Amino acid sequence: MAEAVLQVRGLVKHFPLTRGIVFKKQIGAVRAVDGVDFDLFQGETLGIVGESGCGKSTVAKLLMRLEEPTAGRILFKGEDITRLSGKALKAVRRNIQMVFQDPYTSLNPRMTVGDIIGEPFEIHPEAAPKGDRRRKVQDLLDVVGLNPEYINRYPHQFSGGQRQRIGIARGLALNPEIIICDEPVSALDVSVQAQVINLMTRLQKEFDLSYIFIAHDLSIVRHISDRVGVMYLGRIVELGNEEQIYEHPTHPYTQALLSAVPVPDPESREHRERIILAGDVPSPANIPSGCRFRTRCWKAQERCAVEVPPLAVPPALREVAGPAAHESACHFAAERDCAPAGG
Ligand SMILES: Nc1ncnc2c1ncn2[C@@H]1O[C@H](COP(=O)(O)OP(=O)(O)OP(=O)(O)O)[C@@H](O)[C@H]1O
Ligand code: SF4
Ligand SMILES: [Mg+2]
Repeated sequence: MAEAVLQVRGLVKHFPLTRGIVFKKQIGAVRAVDGVDFDLFQGETLGIVGESGCGKSTVAKLLMRLEEPTAGRILFKGEDITRLSGKALKAVRRNIQMVFQDPYTSLNPRMTVGDIIGEPFEIHPEAAPKGDRRRKVQDLLDVVGLNPEYINRYPHQFSGGQRQRIGIARGLALNPEIIICDEPVSALDVSVQAQVINLMTRLQKEFDLSYIFIAHDLSIVRHISDRVGVMYLGRIVELGNEEQIYEHPTHPYTQALLSAVPVPDPESREHRERIILAGDVPSPANIPSGCRFRTRCWKAQERCAVEVPPLAVPPALREVAGPAAHESACHFAAERDCAPAGG
């Protein structure tokens, strides 16, 4: 089995909610990330999916150490990076890079493409001697499928897909081991999404990269991910490989998300029951007791209000040992055995 390059344990990020201007008083907390555990294995892609506000970008920022965790540990190759600072942190940062969602706002419009892609070398001069940088940047342009002669152009001279290639080239500059991709194709046209995903798949093999690929839609991550974690209100509620998550989901939330994915084939569309979830996502400042999904779950029972379901293989499914036996944070995890209320 491949080695885990990243191990995330009990990761928490709470943002304090305060009242008052002079005498600030904390009146609560936004529990953006509220106990996240996962491993990222060498060379794999872990998809992280969930609705807007469930904490995906906050997880990404914590992994990049752009935010300080409230609690928990992040181990990069066995070393806890949450405690590092100075030189040691800088060295780890070189190995974990990020590609952002919006290629229109994440690139500085006043910098040339060459300066944008070469910017990481200013922070890590040891990665490329000054005289070598131009050639390195041109190599990177070539690697992501852009003409190396475009080095002096500005971001506005490129299309959305090309700009995301520039963002990817910048992410690759320091030859990292992990790239965290926060919705890298969500702002792109559907036709361009596939091209960028294909490029990322090719680069992953070429440079032996491990990816965390964040999206709000299960269908986008399906083909690029080896495993997928489904997030709800600051926690991963189900985690498994493609077959487990897409063919044998056992958590009601994943089942609801999948039932909303458009199906092109009209016949299978007719046979499918769409699950309409009741109510809105609760505020992360006011998370329900017990199972955080219970206010919208059609299977909720008394136990769900008092007992937090752990992310683990549920005992009842452990015995079946098939693809349904995977981590699912639900007391009553089961393959679609019950129709939604009113359905
Ligand atoms: N600096 C901050 N201060 C206070 N609250 C924050 C801060 N950053 C994020 N939040 C809150 O934390 C929650 C999670 O936000 P986050 O950006 O991680 O969600 P997301 O899953 O990336 O959403 P989206 O799909 O919209 O990008 C949200 O309720 C958000 O408002
Ligand atoms: S634990 Fe209860 S409320 Fe939570 S998902 Fe399972 S059945 Fe629904
Ligand atoms: Mg986000």
